Amino acid sequence: MKQQTIVCVVGTRPEAIKMAPVIRALRNETWARPYVLLTAQHREMLDQVMRLFDIRADDDLDIMRPNQQLPALTAQLITALDSALGRAEPRAVLAQGDTTTVFCAALACFYRRVPFGHVEAGLRTGDLHYPFPEEGNRVLASRLARWHFAPTESARANLLREGIADNEIYVTGNTVIDALLDVAPRARGIDLSFAKGRRLILMTAHRRENFGAPMEEAFGAIRALIDRFDDTALLYPVHPNPNVKQPAERILGGHPRIRLTAPLEYEPFVAAMKAAYLVITDSGGVQEEAPALGKPVLVLRNETERPEAVDAGVVKLVGTDRVRILDEASRLLSDLTAYRAMARGVSPYGDGKAAGRVVATIRSDVSS
Ligand code: UD1
Ligand code: UDP
Repeated sequence: MKQQTIVCVVGTRPEAIKMAPVIRALRNETWARPYVLLTAQHREMLDQVMRLFDIRADDDLDIMRPNQQLPALTAQLITALDSALGRAEPRAVLAQGDTTTVFCAALACFYRRVPFGHVEAGLRTGDLHYPFPEEGNRVLASRLARWHFAPTESARANLLREGIADNEIYVTGNTVIDALLDVAPRARGIDLSFAKGRRLILMTAHRRENFGAPMEEAFGAIRALIDRFDDTALLYPVHPNPNVKQPAERILGGHPRIRLTAPLEYEPFVAAMKAAYLVITDSGGVQEEAPALGKPVLVLRNETERPEAVDAGVVKLVGTDRVRILDEASRLLSDLTAYRAMARGVSPYGDGKAAGRVVATIRSDVSS
């Protein structure tokens, strides 16, 4: 069989982490020529992951601009992706998740009549505006996709409810667990001496709908929490988006038990998750990874498109309200029974074999 070009589009850090197992699985297939197309909606954060997983770009659109706004980002992506698809002439295109890169990739494929496979399909909160713009990106990408790789049965049910044909949905697990299981056993490279003898709290935050007052309120609550428990220390790798970085430095900076760092490479970040007593985040990927490592997670959001770990009792939504964050986190830090109930290793998002299932599906369709 003639080799088929399979374009893998990657824009941001989490897409690189979650597409790396798929790209690696494609490399092992004789029928496939994986072609890595970076939009580089992120730059440094994306390049870190590319290095770790030893993935080189076949094309790099180098889109990122400081403090980019959605309309300009979208316009640039559509035009640049269309030209890139013209150069690559793919048999199929794959992209993961819910960023503006993914929505634009799905639309660019539609215009060129190239089949599009959506990895991590079917996540929904049910509110088009929350998270923003990700829920919109998900719904739009699903409407245009040919293959829907759903991580869980509930994601599959969401797609069926929207009228997606049953025989176009494949429940694969989430490829993030493939990446995590690869990296976790060898994860090291983080200096945690500032937290020595203390319980480590690991935090990340970046959601657009939390920008401004909600994020500032959450940061204030976290500082008060660290003050309240003097046997704790906070590690917070700050997202480079200026809407996050500025309030983070203003509200959380200058505290002896709070360490603000640049984004960590994936391996040291996984090491930090392993070392953490508690994880506080608004990240999607971290909500999937931390439960698999047995770490309780408090989510700085009111809704989640990842209900499985909440239902299992190992992830709790606390929003950005000061009182709620302080109450829930204080309970976990002072009540060992409550803590242990949430610190169970459960992995509702996958078994580490998702990428192989994605590739097997594409293989059977493009070779028939
Ligand atoms: C984006 C995605 C979000 C995803 C998140 C993962 C959109 C609209 N948002 O959010 O869905 O959850 O990535 O992290 O698709 N920046 C850098 N260096 C980097 C990356 C970002 O300096 O390597 C700064 C730039 O100023 C950039 C800004 O962050 O303009 C925002 O980046 P952008 O990709 O638009 O949004 P994120 O908030 O990162
Ligand atoms: N991550 C990382 N370094 C960090 C923070 C997070 O490698 O400093 C990883 C994390 O393990 C997860 C992914 O980045 O796999 C999550 O990315 P992000 O929170 O930016 O995006 P989301 O998952 O919310 O789309």
